[in-house]
Amino acid sequence: MDLFEAIQRRRSVRKYTNQIVPNEIIDAAIDAALLAPNSSNLQTWEFFWFDSQSSKRDELVKACLDQNAARTSQHLLVVVANPSLWKKHKSYLIEQFNKSSTPAIVYSYYNKLIPMLYGYCWLAPLRWILFNILGLFRPTTRKPWSRRDIAEISIKSSALAAENFMLAISAKGFDTCPMEGIDEHRIKKILKLKRSARVTMVISVGQRDPKGLWGERVRVPRDWVVKKI
Ligand SMILES: Cc1cc2nc3c(=O)[nH]c(=O)nc-3n(C[C@H](O)[C@H](O)[C@H](O)COP(=O)(O)O)c2cc1C
Repeated sequence: MDLFEAIQRRRSVRKYTNQIVPNEIIDAAIDAALLAPNSSNLQTWEFFWFDSQSSKRDELVKACLDQNAARTSQHLLVVVANPSLWKKHKSYLIEQFNKSSTPAIVYSYYNKLIPMLYGYCWLAPLRWILFNILGLFRPTTRKPWSRRDIAEISIKSSALAAENFMLAISAKGFDTCPMEGIDEHRIKKILKLKRSARVTMVISVGQRDPKGLWGERVRVPRDWVVKKI
């Protein structure tokens, strides 16, 4: 199946059959998710995988408001944006760089700029002032200055990984449903996540039951949302 077919085939499925989805399929789709582009390559997200045998699955299904898409699924994947991973991942990236071929600017990006943007919470108001003063004179990235901006960055990257995952599952002939109709607070408790972590979505996986599709796909007219400038 080529990429366009996998995209066409993917639908949000609200009811699955009892067909088992082999772990290898999930593993392959997770590998595809790991290749998604992500901000500064810091990959500040995590996937928590619950299969049908998981002891905490029932608790998670309840926290997904007992949605059919969760209850009838074979696997559930919690996609978490975790900005606090930046430090560990940054150190790892630096270790992977090759001293002879990595440009000095890359080292200074990770050693100086990233800590200035991601760390030092107390710098937030100063960052805001600095960005906005600079912005008066030249185009300036005015974010991230706050913890909220940092969380937003992680959420964007985790959503791209989630899409890679769902398309890969579709390419393998199985189905998914992304869910944000969830109790994030309860899910964070189940996973013992830090306060700064955000649950981007929960993705259920299974094989579509014909009743799991709520009709033909509908999209608003293309020219409402696509503007050629
Ligand atoms: C971030 C996000 C959250 C969603 N949350 C839910 C949800 O909680 N329950 C649900 O049944 N569908 C959910 N959906 C699925 C959308 O309703 C679905 O993608 C949309 O109706 C388009 O249909 P399609 O995915 O079949 O093309 C969600 C989709 C996204 C991207």
